[in-house]
Amino acid sequence: MSDQEKRMDKIVSLAKRRGFVFPGSEIYGGLRGTWDYGPLGALLKKNFKDEWWKEMVQLRDDVVGIDAAIMMNPKAWEASGHVEAFTDPLVECKVCHQRFRADKPDEIKEHEGTHKGKKVEWTDPQKFNLLVRAYLGVLEGKESEIFLRGEITNGVHVNFKNIVDSTRIKIPFGVAQIGKAFRNEITPGNFIFRSREFEQAELQFYVKPEEEEGRKWFEYWKQNRMDWFLKIGFNESHLRFRDHEPDERAHYARFATDIEYNAPWGWDEMMGIHHRGDWDLKRHQEYSGVDMSYNDPQTGEKFIPWDIETSSGVDRPILFLLLDAYTEDGERIYLKLNPRLAPYKAAVFPLLANKPELVELAKKIRDDLKKNFMIAWDDRGNIGKRYYAQDEIGTPYCITIDFQTLEDGTVTVRDRDFAKQIRKPIEELAAYISEAVRGS
Ligand code: GAP
Repeated sequence: MSDQEKRMDKIVSLAKRRGFVFPGSEIYGGLRGTWDYGPLGALLKKNFKDEWWKEMVQLRDDVVGIDAAIMMNPKAWEASGHVEAFTDPLVECKVCHQRFRADKPDEIKEHEGTHKGKKVEWTDPQKFNLLVRAYLGVLEGKESEIFLRGEITNGVHVNFKNIVDSTRIKIPFGVAQIGKAFRNEITPGNFIFRSREFEQAELQFYVKPEEEEGRKWFEYWKQNRMDWFLKIGFNESHLRFRDHEPDERAHYARFATDIEYNAPWGWDEMMGIHHRGDWDLKRHQEYSGVDMSYNDPQTGEKFIPWDIETSSGVDRPILFLLLDAYTEDGERIYLKLNPRLAPYKAAVFPLLANKPELVELAKKIRDDLKKNFMIAWDDRGNIGKRYYAQDEIGTPYCITIDFQTLEDGTVTVRDRDFAKQIRKPIEELAAYISEAVRGS
């Protein structure tokens, strides 16, 4: 097993043990391709999404956010092309009848290896549609079939006119959205990398339908996304761009580039930037009969805009952030997460659990800090063990209330990355944590 593969195993076990990610429906034997985020995972994911939203919506003048329904009129999926073309090539192993994706040669080869020496034959590839079906309605046998969204994108496109009419935004502008998507993946795997239920964080950026304009914004968003991943703490050498070949592009894309991560199983997709042209708006116009064109208030021109999309998963960056953050330093294991993403910003400890004056003051400090930050509490065992437990979940600061605190009002603040302590007055703690979180 390579070091990278061992690292993945350690992350999967840490995620379960410490409450980041649990297998979905575990007590019933699980449900393949589903995962539940535990108390720490839910915080990490929320922090990631908050950072994304801040960067994409809050700090920009040219982007608004929406939160569209997961269930849509099925016609929307015909219009988007997903009913016809959202497929993967499926092949079946004739020895054991397990199904795989024909376009994943490594997975096919690995499977052949499990039949030791036997000649493995495969069925011809068939198109397998990834949309997950559901049934709505109160009369048995009369329910209508709908699809759970296979990408979050079309909830934005169908609202294009509503957004233009209800805001003062003008082209070029973007619409950001975060939410769940569902795919009937043939081979879910690699922990939360490929699941059947997952989350996406997307931007649809509408521009004038001109080649130069489209190219300019495509290049802009490519670089913008790479820079952001580096800003939130990715190791630069673990990321790269990869342009899609014409035969691997999704049905809606004029051209596409992935940002890939050097995963334990090799370079693989973390997110995609797609030039969707006028595919979506034009098709929704055609299928709904509603005019989806934009009237430019400055020039008086009327056109169907082009869409430059940045489409990230949430789960894949979470997995890769954990892999990048995992650090072993002799006996010490710590998650070197960006403090902005770390589930807890600080942990508060009374030096001794059986000294009421220490416990009382520590609780007061914790309760004050809690008003602004997620704060952990630990009064078990010795301080060394408490540091270990916080290091393992990436808490940037540990604050200990000791006997000196009772005398001079200072506490020790221990830094996760340097394992060093300094003393700080209690009244400076909030500003100190705030500065560290803001500055990172
Ligand atoms: N709207 C465009 C779109 O959905 P995509 O390349 O199919 O494009 C975008 O998906 C991102 O969504 C991927 O880069 C990945 O991060 C995430 N994603 C896609 N399928 C996934 C799955 N089965 N499990 C986890 N994440 C997935």
